This record gives sequence, C-alpha cells and structure tokens, in this order.
Amino acid sequence: MRLTLKIWRQADPHSDGRWVSYPTEDLDPNTPLIDVLEGLNQTLRQRAERPIAFEYECRRGLCGLCGFVIDGQAHGPRQHKAICQLTAADFRNGATVHMEPWRARALPLVSDLKVDKNALLRALQAASLDSLAATAKAAQPGTCIECGACVAACPNASAALFAGAGADRLDDGLRLHALLKSLDDDGFGTCSDHGHCADACPQAIDLGAIARLNRAFLKHLWA
Ligand code: SF4
Ligand code: FES
Repeated sequence: MRLTLKIWRQADPHSDGRWVSYPTEDLDPNTPLIDVLEGLNQTLRQRAERPIAFEYECRRGLCGLCGFVIDGQAHGPRQHKAICQLTAADFRNGATVHMEPWRARALPLVSDLKVDKNALLRALQAASLDSLAATAKAAQPGTCIECGACVAACPNASAALFAGAGADRLDDGLRLHALLKSLDDDGFGTCSDHGHCADACPQAIDLGAIARLNRAFLKHLWA
C-alpha cells in the first residue's frame, strides 16, 4: 500500500513551520506507523536532510512518549490507542495522512512532532506523585501515562483528565491543591466539558475522573 505523509516541519520554536509531503510506496499494511516514520527518516538522512523529530520508546502504549496529532485526532484514528500501536493498515490505501504536534501553550513545541511535556511532570512533582510512565508502573489500563493527548484534544487545552487521574491517587487536599496550582501556573486551560479528552486518552480514562476531581477539590475547599 502507499500513503502520503504530510508532516508539520518546524526546526525549533523560533522558526516558521510548514507542511511537507512525503510519499511512501510498497508499505506492508502490518508495518507499525513508527517504523514507517523511521524508514522515512532513514531516507532523509541518506539525502542529508534533517530527520523528523518525534519520540517513542515502549511501543506498547505505556511510556507516554509517542503522542502527536494525526488528521486532527490526538493519537490518530483508533480510539484508546497510542501512536505506537498503529500500523499502516489503520489508514486507507492511497490516503494523505496529516501529522502535527500537540498544540497547547503549556506543552510547547520542541521540533516537528515533538513537544515539551515537562509541565505535566512538574504538576506530579508538586503533588509528590511519581511519574507512573517513567517508573514503568503504568501497565494497568486506566493508568495515566502522562502523554498529553487529553490536553491536545481539548479546545481549551485543559489538563483536567490528567489531573483527575492524578487526583485518584491522592487522598490529601493540600497535594491536590498543589497539583492544580502547578497546572494553572503552567498555563493549562480550564475544563469546558467538551469531553474530547476522554475520547483521545489511550488508557481509556473516562470523564468520571474529572467528576471525582471536582468533588475532591470542593471537599478540600470546604474542609
Ligand atoms: S489522562 Fe489519558 S490522555 Fe491524558 S495524559 Fe493521562 S493517559 Fe494521556
Ligand atoms: S512509545 Fe510508549 S506509549 Fe507509545
């Protein structure tokens, strides 16, 4: 099969970005999308061109590193799957596939498809929570892998679903307050009840996490 990858190229946050088309041919439908991109990068290196910046590690939807937007959807077309779990067969033969980075003020662009997700880790640290993805404890479905897809999918770039997943691990109002303050200080938006976050979450964390977050925060305020 063949795909045309239309990829957002931007060397760094200070350069102008632009869409660049890369045709691919003779793809085995079972090829992981990550390998399609790695193959493209090999070609770019052979041509002495700058390879596409993107991240991945575990290839199992557990480390949270691989996220970007495909055809307007955070983590692409398969609900509750991360980019690293997609293959060429998840796209129509002959399709043009747009790939661009998360676009949120609090998750600033580093280069091409790679963004800086440290604001999410700062919030965990503020609440004295471990990063489950970094400590390889995210093997359970429903555990936040700190990928940022919920923020990217939200029209307000809110991290409410991420915060809700964190709040589920807290029983201390002061630590919850510190988590929310850190997210606020880093410029995440407020929850606007669109619900796109839960659709984008590769760990299928549902909107109940935000409801529990709101209840826990109100309880803390009234305590
Ligand atoms: S709540 Fe889901 S989408 Fe948001 S950072 Fe965690 S795993 Fe990613
Ligand atoms: S590479 Fe680890 S979640 Fe995708």
